[in-house]
Amino acid sequence: MASFKSLPGFRDFYPEDLAPRTHLFRQWRRSAHAYGFQEYDAPVLESLDLYKAKSGDEIENQLFSFTDKGGREVALRPEMTPTVCRMVGAKANALKRPIKWFSIADFFRYERMQKGRGRCFAQFNGDIFGEAGPEAEIELISLLIQCLRGLGLAADDFYVRLSDRNLWFYYLEALGLGEEQVRGMLGAIDKFERLGEAAFEIYTKAHGEMPETLKTAVLRMLAIKSLSDLERLVTELDNEQLTNRLADWRQVLGGLDAMGLSDFVSVDLGVVRGLAYYTGFVFEAFDRKGDLRALAGGGRYDDLVKKLGGPALPAVGFAIGDMTMELLLKERGLLPEVASKPDVYVVVGGGAERLAAFGDIAALREVGYRVDYPMKDLGFGKQFKNATESGARLALIYGEDELAKGVVKLRDLSQREEVEVPRDQVAAAVRDFLSA
Ligand code: HAM
Repeated sequence: MASFKSLPGFRDFYPEDLAPRTHLFRQWRRSAHAYGFQEYDAPVLESLDLYKAKSGDEIENQLFSFTDKGGREVALRPEMTPTVCRMVGAKANALKRPIKWFSIADFFRYERMQKGRGRCFAQFNGDIFGEAGPEAEIELISLLIQCLRGLGLAADDFYVRLSDRNLWFYYLEALGLGEEQVRGMLGAIDKFERLGEAAFEIYTKAHGEMPETLKTAVLRMLAIKSLSDLERLVTELDNEQLTNRLADWRQVLGGLDAMGLSDFVSVDLGVVRGLAYYTGFVFEAFDRKGDLRALAGGGRYDDLVKKLGGPALPAVGFAIGDMTMELLLKERGLLPEVASKPDVYVVVGGGAERLAAFGDIAALREVGYRVDYPMKDLGFGKQFKNATESGARLALIYGEDELAKGVVKLRDLSQREEVEVPRDQVAAAVRDFLSA
């Protein structure tokens, strides 16, 4: 018979694989709660229309989509943003603003497989709706940083590159480009890091020759690496839109600085984000060594709720992926050891002892100890071997002799020392031993 494997790009989670993921999720939840975000969830299957022309060509081409038995065109969600916009839009008037929501869920993209990229992956999504000013960016970028710091990563492990599609629009429009040309140029800039100047062909193919002055101007923006670089350029250009936008930049970077986060953030206009719906500040998190693809990405998307049928509602958000995150934590030795060891292993005789032990096992489990015991009657020697291999620190021994005396033996498995305690004092003795 054929043996079955999981589909390419889909992962099985054996217990040792699931433990790190559970660790990520637990830390992310803790960070989101500390920031006052509320958790939501949504269906994995959505109507195909939700993504058409909204997420952008790249994601649209990667959809797992099909026609269901009722003739509906549906898709497995490739990202959460359209879904959360649909949900918030439907109840926008009833929700207290700002709406600060998060989720942890699986997503599906038919991607070419490579390191840190799969076809089913998990994301933490954090989004704020109803806040038009840069305070939302400050809150979200600091939450993103906290989600990574909460896992033990520091400023020499990762950083957030902050950029701004508005700044590009004002800059390129001041240079005479129309809206479509600016969009074409942003498409080229999105590929610049990978392709270098060859990326400009994306622009020239659609919009014709690129004058040298335009190229120089774009390269100049790409070379900006700090707020003072940006201030210098804006002062020189003396353009009102750019000058006003600089005030937002000062607010975002000033706020993050006041939170003690400057070391985690760098100004980098090379980030423009491939998704179609972003409208303002955009940002991505990377490992410092640059070995991995993006850890996280996000930005402002003020028009999407309305485009999907809701009211006009400003929004900012980001998502962290589990795959690159786990690779980075592994590289840095920051993944905790699998913690599935019992606290106590019960070694038990084959007769009435078993039922006597069951009562104590139930009582210990009820107060929260992890307790294991053999399912079958085994010799004591074999049971002690199992007890040691289980990783438990303590064995409780329920033999015929012990029960006849009304006691249980406690064996310290690392020291191989034993003491006898009266049956009714087992719970207290276990607690004293394990907390010592
Ligand atoms: P994204 O940049 O497409 O943004 O994905 C965010 C993160 O998800 C990436 O940085 C990466 O870590 C992870 N990721 C994406 N695709 C894959 C894949 N095929 N395999 C493994 N990991 C992957 C979004 O999804 C936006 N919806 C984020 C957002 C939320 N914007 C506003 N709110």
